[in-house]
Amino acid sequence: MGIGTAPGKVLLVGEHGVVHGGVAFALPFPAVGARAEVVAAPGPLRLESPLWSGELDEDTPMPARGLAKAALATLSTLGVPARDLVIRMDATIPLGAGLGSSAATAAALVRALLAAHGREADVDALVHLAEQEAHGNPSGVDGRVIVLGQPIGFRRGEATRLVPTGGAFHLVVADSGVSRNTREAVASVTELLSSDPARGQAALETIKQAALEAMEAWQRGDAGALGRTMDRAQEALVTLGVSTPVLEQLIVAARGAGALGAKLTGAGMGGCVLALATDADQAGRVAEAMRAAGARRAWIQEYTP
Ligand code: PMV
Repeated sequence: MGIGTAPGKVLLVGEHGVVHGGVAFALPFPAVGARAEVVAAPGPLRLESPLWSGELDEDTPMPARGLAKAALATLSTLGVPARDLVIRMDATIPLGAGLGSSAATAAALVRALLAAHGREADVDALVHLAEQEAHGNPSGVDGRVIVLGQPIGFRRGEATRLVPTGGAFHLVVADSGVSRNTREAVASVTELLSSDPARGQAALETIKQAALEAMEAWQRGDAGALGRTMDRAQEALVTLGVSTPVLEQLIVAARGAGALGAKLTGAGMGGCVLALATDADQAGRVAEAMRAAGARRAWIQEYTP
């Protein structure tokens, strides 16, 4: 009846800065993604997914509460009763890894419901409802980049800037296998800002500046400069206390294999590391080095103009 898909995402530079007024430079990450299919079936509105299956209504528990919110809001926007449909969801995005699993599954679900009814709506706003359930007070960057499917500079409350790619870039993303919680990581930064404001503010300023420079380097096609901004941002993320020894082991391995820059991506305290390679061959070596250093999985994604 209707199919919807959405890619994952990575934050190249700017995580945590974006919570405190900065820009997040975010990329769609189609190496992983989500797919939803809506079929007609008499009875209550249902979700069937490897993670959770059951009825979608006001009482749907976690982990599907956000998807229930988005599904009900979409159907209400369409003026269609929330019943007689089954949504089958499948995703290759690891959970709790910072690759946008909650926003991508919500985007795929909303798109599938809209396709099933041959209609259009503000997908980003509907995905944001799901993200609020999943994350409390998210900046909204995940939903925005996943729905647009283009590299963006995202600042809270401001129009999103599309960031065209000035050259080919090879990114390697490695999953530490340690699941993390965005809300906790954001709260720990807020805590540092009250216990040691000078240190916390300085680190956030570094991240904000690095995000702006990273966007410029991306547009110029300057991989060397982009790698350096990633390394600077990582140092500041260490100062903020959201890096961990497991993540740093992967970062060291990536740099050892010749990566131009490497950092954690997303909220930190677990999740993924991303590294910038010079070309496809080197990306393979960087991925291998990170696997050997304990990464559960590694993906290579090329971005071209
Ligand atoms: O790990 P993620 O994808 O949930 O990213 C969190 C990014 C933060 O800047 C830390 C929070 C936010 O809402 O932007």
